Amino acid sequence: MTSTSSKPVGIVTGAGSGIGLAVATHLVSKGYRVVIADMNPKTGTATAESLGADAKFIQCDVSSYRAQAQLFKQAYEWGGNRLDFCHANAGVDDRENLYHMKEEVDEEGLVKPLNTKCMEVNMEGVIQGLHLFKYYVRRSKDHNGGKGKFVATSSAAGFYAMTTNPQYTASKYGVIGLTRAAGPELVKEGITVNCICPGFVPTNLCPPGILEVWPKEHITPLTTVTKAIDAFLGDDTMTGQAVELSQGNLYPRPMHDYPNASQRWIAEEAVHIWAKFYAKVPEKAGY
Ligand SMILES: NC(=O)c1ccc[n+]([C@@H]2O[C@H](COP(=O)([O-])OP(=O)(O)OC[C@H]3O[C@@H](n4cnc5c(N)ncnc54)[C@H](O)[C@@H]3O)[C@@H](O)[C@H]2O)c1
Repeated sequence: MTSTSSKPVGIVTGAGSGIGLAVATHLVSKGYRVVIADMNPKTGTATAESLGADAKFIQCDVSSYRAQAQLFKQAYEWGGNRLDFCHANAGVDDRENLYHMKEEVDEEGLVKPLNTKCMEVNMEGVIQGLHLFKYYVRRSKDHNGGKGKFVATSSAAGFYAMTTNPQYTASKYGVIGLTRAAGPELVKEGITVNCICPGFVPTNLCPPGILEVWPKEHITPLTTVTKAIDAFLGDDTMTGQAVELSQGNLYPRPMHDYPNASQRWIAEEAVHIWAKFYAKVPEKAGY
C-alpha cells in the first residue's frame, strides 16, 4: 500500500462543483491526495467529505493573493511538504455588464469603474496560482524531483468570442496566452503548463433553465475533461498546449500562423535578442 506521504499531491480550485469536482474526484481515484479549494464552504466541505481521507477542503477566494498564498502553504504542508499538480480552474462570468451597466459618476465627477471581478478570478488568480505552484514544486524535490504539472481552465471563449461576456472572453484569451508563453519555459525545469478550453459543459456555471433548451449534441461531458487531465498527466513533454474540448474529443490547438517571414522572425528568432537585453536587467525580467 502507498503511504500517505509518498502519494502525489494536487490542488484543484473551484473543486466544489462542476469541472473542478470531476477533476478532484478523478485525481483521488488515481491515487492523489487533493486539496479542494473553493470559496463556497458548503459545497467544498461536502466534496472533501465525499472523497474521504485523501481530500481536504480549504476555503479560498483565488482573487485574493493572500488567500491563495495561504492555500498553497497549507496544501504543501498537509501533503507532507510536497506539491505535484495544480488545476487552476475556478472561474466566474462577467459580474457587471460592460454595455448595460448603470453608468454613475463619483463626487469628483469621474466615471465609476466597471466591476472586473471576472478578470481577477479568471486571469489574475491563475497567474498568481502558477507563481505559487512553481515555488512549492521547486521545494518538493525530495519527493518528485521538483517536477510538476499545472493545468488551467480556459474556454472555447478563449479562441472565439462570447460577445455577451467581454471580460470572460478576455480572461480566457489571457489564460491561453499565459499557457503558451510560460509552458515552453517552465518545462525546462520539469514543470508543464497546459490549459483546457471546453465547449459547453453542463455545470452550475450555466444560467438556470439553459440546460432545458440546450441541444444534447452540443454538450461536452465531464469525461472529456478527465480525458484531457489524463493526457497531461501521462506526458512530461506536453506543455504550452491549449486543448479545445468538444463533445468527446480533445483538439490541441496551434497558435495562429504568421502572416509573413518578418513576424515569424520576431516571434521565433528575436527571443535570443530579448534574452540578451533582459540579462542586463535580471530583476525586471527574471533572467
Ligand atoms: N461549464 C462550461 O460550459 C465551461 C466551459 C468553458 C470553461 N468553463 C470554465 O470552467 C471552470 C469551472 O467552471 P464550472 O463550469 O465547473 O462552473 P461551476 O460554477 O460548476 O464551478 C465553479 C466553482 O468555482 C468556485 N469559485 C468561483 N469563484 C471562485 C473564487 N474566486 N475562488 C475560489 N473558487 C471560486 C465556485 O464556488 C464553484 O464551486 C471556470 O473557469 C469556467 O469558466 C466552463
